[in-house]
Amino acid sequence: MKLLWCAVGVVIPFLTVDALIPASNQQPIQQPAALPGAAHEKLEDVISASPLLSLHRAICEVESISDDELAVGKLVISLLKAHNFTVKTQSVPQPEERNSTKPRYNIYAYPDPSKYSGIDVDAIPSPKVVLSSHIDTVPPHIPYSLSLPPAKTAREDILISGRGTVDDKACVAVQIQALLDLLADPDAKLDPLDVALLFVVGEEAHGDGMRHFSASDLYRQTNTNYHAILFGEPTEGKLATGHKGIGMVKVKARGKAAHSGYPWLGRSANSMILPALLALDGLGDIPEDAGGLPRSEKYGKSTVNVGLMRGGVAGNVVPEYAEASITFRLAGGDSDELKELATKAVRKVDPEGLLELEFAQGYGPIELDGDGVDGFDTITVNYGTDIPNLKVADGVKRYLYGPGSILVAHGKNEGLTVGDLEEALDGYKTLLLRSL
Ligand SMILES: *[C@@H]1O[C@H](CO)[C@@H](O)[C@H](O)[C@H]1NC(C)=O
Ligand SMILES: *[C@@H]1O[C@H](CO)[C@@H](O)[C@H](O)[C@H]1NC(C)=O
Ligand SMILES: [Zn+2]
Repeated sequence: MKLLWCAVGVVIPFLTVDALIPASNQQPIQQPAALPGAAHEKLEDVISASPLLSLHRAICEVESISDDELAVGKLVISLLKAHNFTVKTQSVPQPEERNSTKPRYNIYAYPDPSKYSGIDVDAIPSPKVVLSSHIDTVPPHIPYSLSLPPAKTAREDILISGRGTVDDKACVAVQIQALLDLLADPDAKLDPLDVALLFVVGEEAHGDGMRHFSASDLYRQTNTNYHAILFGEPTEGKLATGHKGIGMVKVKARGKAAHSGYPWLGRSANSMILPALLALDGLGDIPEDAGGLPRSEKYGKSTVNVGLMRGGVAGNVVPEYAEASITFRLAGGDSDELKELATKAVRKVDPEGLLELEFAQGYGPIELDGDGVDGFDTITVNYGTDIPNLKVADGVKRYLYGPGSILVAHGKNEGLTVGDLEEALDGYKTLLLRSL
């Protein structure tokens, strides 16, 4: 029997799963889908009995692919209001290329001062700590499901799968629950006015939600007292000491169409672009003094992904147009340095300067406050986050922490365990209290 403290301070007795599932069902389960009905109900019961796990389930069950975050936003707003939070919403316009007017909202919330501290104030508090994560996910939506991996029997081993279960609804749920638990715990001595929650849209696609917040009056009015911002992304329950930078370039080739039997009458855009793509593709592997991308002890090599290529219309036509999109993950340097290196590499194989290069605004590696925090292992990560999209004053600490692994986050097998979520709940409480 295990005991679990829930948000309202009531002790709920918990049976381990091996006590819940009949012995006949305890052999390794190879196919989660084949989980017997009764056993599956028991897994559902484990989730329903926990405020954290059921909050996480509710948020994950609502599809919220980037730019389509209205439904999940409404759910989070109503959950927060039901817990006596004051909620400020920010309408974030759809990106132009979407040709859509569908509303979507950033959510900024704090414990209602009149209900939590008995003060009736109109002014929005200036918190010391903000907990932030994103409510959009990558496509496609994958339904929420529960399973027990082979040879596992413990409650903590229950695997929760589906889109967003890790990235980033795990953090949304854990951040909300950590704050609710601390508010309900008199020993925590948390001043309700010291903490706010920020949930943004659009992180996976363009970072427009966080940029919108960063440029808003709401941010200007409330950021005067910040000590720390706790950003939630999957870090395997470790504190990130930094993440790699990012750069993007689109390469375009314009040739001349012709019959493939008479290629000398045209100019192949595919043939024009290929040497450039090959050159860019190798930039992470050649030494820096030979024109390669920056390396560093902390992040290792910069890497290159030629992620999208498009060119030509048919096998028997000399292609008139070709383009490719390349993403770099930077272990050093910055956007300008990347631009210089990549341009040089392309012009070496395109001395006439026929190829068009369009660089998007990127950034170099982002240093974070992860070192020297007792009780946390550290990690560096290779993915980008919303952190550079929020302009914070010097001295404000920035932490990046969350349950689950980025290695599954955008995949078909996105998922984490009950244990991962509950460990991160404790981790967030510790970090929050220490940041005050
Ligand atoms: C919200 O505040 C009211 C008092 O204004 C209280 O009765 C209620 O229990 C509170 N709800 C939660 C979930 O804290
Ligand atoms: C944008 O959407 C409107 C209405 O949904 C449609 O009539 C219009 O053709 C679209 N424009 C583009 C450029 O796709
Ligand atoms: Zn994320």
